[in-house]
Amino acid sequence: MAKGHIIAGLDIGTNTIKLLVIQKRNKEWEVLSYQEMPSFGLRKGAVVNIEEVSKNIQILLSEVERNSSKKITSVFVNIGGNHLYITPSDGIISVSRANQIISQEDIDRVLQATRAINIPQNEEVLDVFSREFIIDDQKGIKQPLGLRGIRLEAKVLLLCVFSPYFINLTQAVLNSKLHIDDIVPSPLAASEAVLTPQQKELGVALIDIGASTTSLAVFEEGNLLHLAVFPIGSANITNDIAIGLKTEITVAESIKKQYGSCMLVKTDKEKKDDKTNVEKKKIEVTENSCIVSFTKKDLVNIIEPRVSEILDLISKELKKIGRQELLPCGIVITGGGAKISKIKELAKEQLKLPVQIGKVKNILGLDEDPALATVAGLVLSSIDMEDGEKEGMMGGVKMILNKLKKILKAFVP
Ligand SMILES: Nc1ncnc2c1ncn2[C@@H]1O[C@H](COP(=O)(O)OP(=O)(O)OP(=O)(O)O)[C@@H](O)[C@H]1O
Ligand SMILES: [Mg+2]
Repeated sequence: MAKGHIIAGLDIGTNTIKLLVIQKRNKEWEVLSYQEMPSFGLRKGAVVNIEEVSKNIQILLSEVERNSSKKITSVFVNIGGNHLYITPSDGIISVSRANQIISQEDIDRVLQATRAINIPQNEEVLDVFSREFIIDDQKGIKQPLGLRGIRLEAKVLLLCVFSPYFINLTQAVLNSKLHIDDIVPSPLAASEAVLTPQQKELGVALIDIGASTTSLAVFEEGNLLHLAVFPIGSANITNDIAIGLKTEITVAESIKKQYGSCMLVKTDKEKKDDKTNVEKKKIEVTENSCIVSFTKKDLVNIIEPRVSEILDLISKELKKIGRQELLPCGIVITGGGAKISKIKELAKEQLKLPVQIGKVKNILGLDEDPALATVAGLVLSSIDMEDGEKEGMMGGVKMILNKLKKILKAFVP
């Protein structure tokens, strides 16, 4: 939670590790310091080398502390990787009070009851997302506090993680002498930064295309409907370019960023400006006295199939939950992978839904960069908690049952 109106978010990604500290000034939240650096010690979004990750966190931390002249003692941190999954569950209890008025304790008990499912021994339930409450057969209740009934039922989604990766992540942060305020799944953090409550109410999907993972979070009626993480991302595009153009990864990466596109469609302005047919013109990049030669069309032929593969995975997942082509607010794309040229157009064509690139809201001074959605969402989720508490809402139905504090105490050095 925010201390002295300073909040820190730490996004430990496979490609980049990002630390954002914001502060409150005149009722607005603004960037106090932001630093990022290349990340090591992760595989497909999961921490596999505690020491390397911890070393990087400490470097970032000292830079941020030097820049801001503030001591950072705790962070909100993300958890990513395709070991994350959700599974439906339900629970049922008898209302405890004689007057049959449902209390917070009843709600906590019924949510706790939903956790009693069989999962493999090396996995654990990280969060509980309620979908609906049922009071004596009356369905579709979102807020049961204060209502009357004899039997209270909850239908939820449980978010499960692979315990060793969860422990590695917490250990890497705690070894850096930081406390953990909360651990938020990456796509939910990104959603927090770029989606509006209206979009979540009407139906929307967030796709975060990172370096080695693509995450999907679907919302409807204000609740999480589905979450999935796939072990494929923008680094696969870089690898394809390296193979296709027979060049080194670092060269392929800069070619991707500078010239890459996943479609040859042009806007009217581009057509007007393009008298020499740019896409067939040879581009030459010199690196270490080697010349890599290609056309824009060659690049599209390499990049388009990979982006299309990613979008196909999303399309199949949406079909699985019956929401293919059926999300009124469409798709919002975040992550560094969202920056590849024409991804919006390709996604629109393939998913047959409206598509936007995610823009972070409510933090003054932060670049409009979709790669910053997760780190921004980490700090923004805590602002929402703060505001909620002020308005006395969170004491009521806190949809996410956070049992992390208990788990984390076990690791505190
Ligand atoms: N302008 C650009 N065009 C295309 N790709 C880009 C651009 N800028 C960054 N990327 C790609 O975005 C990826 C990094 O994005 P991001 O920071 O969201 O990943 P990450 O969080 O480290 O990874 P993950 O979420 O998979 O663990 C890299 O693969 C990088 O090549
Ligand atoms: Mg990421």
